[in-house]
Amino acid sequence: MRIRVRRLLGATAAAIGLLLLVLIVLAAASGVHVTRLRWDEPAELARRLAISPGMRVADIGAGSGWLAVGLARRVGPDGHVYATELAPAKLEAIRRSARAAGVANLTVLPARLEATGLPPSCCEVIYLRYVYHHLARPQALNASLYESLAPGGRLGIIDFEPRGLFRWMGSSPGRSGHGVPRETVREEVEAAGFRLVEAEPRWGRVGYLLVFTR
Ligand SMILES: C[S@@+](CC[C@H](N)C(=O)[O-])C[C@H]1O[C@@H](n2cnc3c(N)ncnc32)[C@H](O)[C@@H]1O
Repeated sequence: MRIRVRRLLGATAAAIGLLLLVLIVLAAASGVHVTRLRWDEPAELARRLAISPGMRVADIGAGSGWLAVGLARRVGPDGHVYATELAPAKLEAIRRSARAAGVANLTVLPARLEATGLPPSCCEVIYLRYVYHHLARPQALNASLYESLAPGGRLGIIDFEPRGLFRWMGSSPGRSGHGVPRETVREEVEAAGFRLVEAEPRWGRVGYLLVFTR
């Protein structure tokens, strides 16, 4: 009986080990940065984009609004954050996040596929986190980003390469795989008039960060 229990425990441990190994191999094949599972992304983004109190910042495709809310706290009462989204339900979700966090310096704006919805030259910093590969009309949106960013401002694009498992998943029309190669982002964004000033190949679990200026 004891021997059977020991064998069972041994087999279970071996199965768990094998499963972990398969997960690590799959993660590595998909470009997951396993050393970056825990980190303070809002603080790191603020550092890379030189976001400081009093600044005007825009989060394009803000999703639930978690990062926009974090940065609204960081820019403080003299600064302002705009958060844009496409669908009314997401716009409402961001408003709820802002209310729950008690931040009053965040404006939620509806975007269109081809336009940010932001006022011209509204912001010293604009960023898109895992949004660029979803853009249905990148050329038009990049032109609109150019109009929205103040001269000398910074545009941060966080996205990921469509490699490993992502290669087999869909993204937006005209793109293959899920994600977007950083060279493609660079070409498209520079074609709109921006200039690349920093390229960080490792961002979070799977991403990269490109920083442009105008
Ligand atoms: C993967 S989610 C990322 C959400 C958020 N940025 C985050 O990191 O948690 C992509 C978001 O981009 C939004 N999106 C796609 N195209 C957009 C556009 N042209 N303007 C604004 N938002 C857009 C989608 O509605 C979706 O919420």
